[in-house]
Amino acid sequence: MRCARLPVRVFRVFRGEVLKQGAGASRIKCLSAASKDRYFQGVNTLSEHEQRGRFIAFEGGEGAGKSTQVKALVARLRGRGLEVVQTREPGGSPGAEALRDLLVQGDAGRWSALSELLMMYAARSDHLEKVIRPALARGAWVVCDRFADSSRAYQGAGGGVAPAFIEQVDRAVVADTQPDLVIVMDMPVEAGLLRALSRGDKENRFESKGLMFHERLRQGFLDRASAVPDRYRVIDAARAIEAISVDVWDAVHRAFAELQAGQ
Ligand SMILES: Nc1ncnc2c1ncn2[C@@H]1O[C@H](COP(=O)(O)OP(=O)(O)OP(=O)(O)O)[C@@H](O)[C@H]1O
Ligand SMILES: [Mg+2]
Repeated sequence: MRCARLPVRVFRVFRGEVLKQGAGASRIKCLSAASKDRYFQGVNTLSEHEQRGRFIAFEGGEGAGKSTQVKALVARLRGRGLEVVQTREPGGSPGAEALRDLLVQGDAGRWSALSELLMMYAARSDHLEKVIRPALARGAWVVCDRFADSSRAYQGAGGGVAPAFIEQVDRAVVADTQPDLVIVMDMPVEAGLLRALSRGDKENRFESKGLMFHERLRQGFLDRASAVPDRYRVIDAARAIEAISVDVWDAVHRAFAELQAGQ
């Protein structure tokens, strides 16, 4: 069974007299030997890794409802008193947002898949440095609307960039800042595209790439979820917003033991 790391906020709750009680004690078992020693000595420090906040990414095709569900989840987590950074890709930091405009607007053929991949990872690198890592380091939760799996799907499965090259770049840029949980919003591509196009915004470069492209990237997300099942949850996104929100909360709740105390 997955052993949850203990964020500082929860750790503080469990410091004090609570250790002998069931839930807190079982979580203390998850700490490294060095951290347990510090815990029992009453030292209020955890290693950098153990203080890290939680990182959740939403992935999926156009119009699958990612942004809608990100907003709902962030509100729900904040309702629990958690510090939550809501962010998105491409973008999320001023430098990365400037790159976003280049990537999501204009003609479908404006960039090759390889150029896109490198720009996406340039944006991601800045986003990680300026926003994601500082947030996680202070124990905040990060909820990100698209992350690296969108590169695997759009530039890899959809665009034909070699998966081995993407993994090489990913190891250099994302390194160990991998999401703790990835929620893949899955639905038939035509219905998703209709939803997205009905918004009528100007960020439609990828939407204009054709149905076969979108079918390939849908399969790319599903293949990735099958390859790393313990960190992924695929959700049927062709349903009512509220029903999907229930499944999203269930996935988050199951993934992070510290949420279970408050139900
Ligand atoms: N479950 C749903 N049922 C019907 N409409 C939905 C549902 N979820 C979201 N929508 C609507 O569909 C449109 C696309 O939703 P949203 O922007 O959340 O999708 P997205 O996955 O973020 O899209 P994109 O990939 O383009 O960023 C919006 O107008 C939204 O209000
Ligand atoms: Mg969106």
